[in-house]
Amino acid sequence: MIKACIFDLDGVIVDTAKYHFIAWRRLANELGFDFTEEENEQLKGVSRMGSLELILQWGGVQMSEADKLSWAAKKNEWYREYILKMQPDEILDGVMPFLDHLKERGIQLGLGSASKNASDIITQVGLRDRFASIVDGAKATKSKPDPQVFLLGAMELGRQPSECIVFEDAAKGIDAALNGGFYAVGIGKEAHLNHAHLVIPNFIGITLDDILNGIQIKA
Ligand code: BG6
Ligand code: MG
Repeated sequence: MIKACIFDLDGVIVDTAKYHFIAWRRLANELGFDFTEEENEQLKGVSRMGSLELILQWGGVQMSEADKLSWAAKKNEWYREYILKMQPDEILDGVMPFLDHLKERGIQLGLGSASKNASDIITQVGLRDRFASIVDGAKATKSKPDPQVFLLGAMELGRQPSECIVFEDAAKGIDAALNGGFYAVGIGKEAHLNHAHLVIPNFIGITLDDILNGIQIKA
């Protein structure tokens, strides 16, 4: 029944949240305010412009649409300084063995990310060839919790949502998976992700059967 797994990138395959945080914080500081790591949690899975809107709201800053585009571009330049230095050792623990294990089990692999930088990141850490489908923030025009990013992935893999498991670290990403009719597995803390079918802290030591039993389905 399960034929494919679709992975979010940021926070699931690699920890790029820390680089987003540094770059967004630099933007906030240059605009004269600061925000916390807890607030940063709310930016997970949110598009670049959507994130900027939230941050400006937190700082009580208003600006023209043209200025918003220019600040978002600056933030992206700062962010890219970090991601273009990323190495395969930044792949999160347990991910490589889990991808190998899925391949052995004949499961198709897809990537579904809101990031326009997804393609560069996945190339940088040497995982590009692992994924039969890569849908990023350039291909998907609607932000999570809209299911578009995962629906496009399922389509590219030639599968129905009910044949796919989505792995996500963001609450909005779990919403997107559920809205699309996918099985949704949260990676991280139960507190943020308790609407998922199953939550695991990370992929260390995890097998497909652990996941299938956890969400009570048969492959
Ligand atoms: C998501 C991240 O994967 O991509 C968000 O969780 C980020 O924090 C979004 O804002 C867009 O990323 P980018 O690379 O297009 O600015
Ligand atoms: Mg994520």
